Amino acid sequence: MKIHEIELRKIFDSRGEPTIEVIVIDGEGRRFTAAVPSGKSKGTREVSTFSFEDARVAVDKIRETVAAKVFEGVGEIDAFLLGIDGTPEKKILGGNVMLGVSIAAARALAHGMKREVWELIREEYFSDIVEERVPLILSNFVNGGGHANNNLDLQEYLVIARTNGSVIKTVGKLIDLYRATGEFLKKQYKLNNIPIGDEGGYSLDFPDNFEPLSILEALIDENDLENEFILGLDAAASHFGSEKGYVLEKKKYTREKLVEKYKEYFKKSKLLLSIEDAFGENDTEGFIQLRKAVPEKWVVGDDLTTTNAKEIENHAGEGAINAVIIKPNQIGTIAEACGAIQAARRHGVKIIVSHRSGETEDAFVIELAKACAADGVKIGAPVKERLIKFNELIRLYS
Ligand code: PGA
Ligand code: ZN
Repeated sequence: MKIHEIELRKIFDSRGEPTIEVIVIDGEGRRFTAAVPSGKSKGTREVSTFSFEDARVAVDKIRETVAAKVFEGVGEIDAFLLGIDGTPEKKILGGNVMLGVSIAAARALAHGMKREVWELIREEYFSDIVEERVPLILSNFVNGGGHANNNLDLQEYLVIARTNGSVIKTVGKLIDLYRATGEFLKKQYKLNNIPIGDEGGYSLDFPDNFEPLSILEALIDENDLENEFILGLDAAASHFGSEKGYVLEKKKYTREKLVEKYKEYFKKSKLLLSIEDAFGENDTEGFIQLRKAVPEKWVVGDDLTTTNAKEIENHAGEGAINAVIIKPNQIGTIAEACGAIQAARRHGVKIIVSHRSGETEDAFVIELAKACAADGVKIGAPVKERLIKFNELIRLYS
């Protein structure tokens, strides 16, 4: 496949912030597009994000040599981009520009080969996978932290859906539960309207950080849905502390006290399976202690690991995580995201492919999840622009 031209467009994400869309035009004049999402609660080790103006300069750099190349695989496209950039932070081309080109070019390649993008990625990086499985769906019902204007310190309260039969049925039930949750909250807190956070979750004030879990658990119980729905959290703890100490509900916590607090959460909520970024992104010791305290639960890295193969390798080796978030724009190319997934698989670390809080209508993350037979996908509340990812799940898994 030859890339004849690359175009760039400024578009807006779901928060109304500018982001970029890349259009790759192949040798036959066909156009392939990819839009790049953006995070708000970002890890400091994530690669750089260029403004539209800087992105134009970066695309000019790629244009200088791209026309002379013939690409036969996803890895070749990404090796070409990495060859131009050559910095771990993606300072020359920008992680968002590289990812846009990486995905749009992979789409061009797949089209030329009459294949699906996920099939190409599977063949190049995960050819050992034999069993197809539908990932768990981690759906964000209540938003707090940096994604909302309420009093919750924890960022995300996730309903985790297990698909036993059909994806459409599971998504339908998840939507019903989401609506029932809204109705319950309106009654309980005597509200006519409930504020909605960045990822579509309810974002009102609660008496404390545990209350949303307890409400969701009760609703799942009442509706006899325990076989299908369980619960997860994303603390995004870098927002309320670090290895030096944490502040939750206006009270100070040491790392050890925070481990105790989470242990209590797991004790009180029998449906709670997972917690992401339970400690600050440099507080590896906190993760290690929590893993020991709740060995059968998922202790998930996101800001801690930033889709970086080396970080995943190190943190898995230290016993800090047994599950990891994969966000392609934390690292910048499909090839490197797949490298991160391979590192996780080598260590038996569960893989959760995730959207960002500022999203677009691009559903590449679902294709990536399918390619690597991910354990889970984290895609927000089943509402508004987030439904694009749910619908892509329905398409790819039915
Ligand atoms: P972000 O948050 O996309 O705003 O970084 C999502 C998350 O922390 O998982
Ligand atoms: Zn997170």
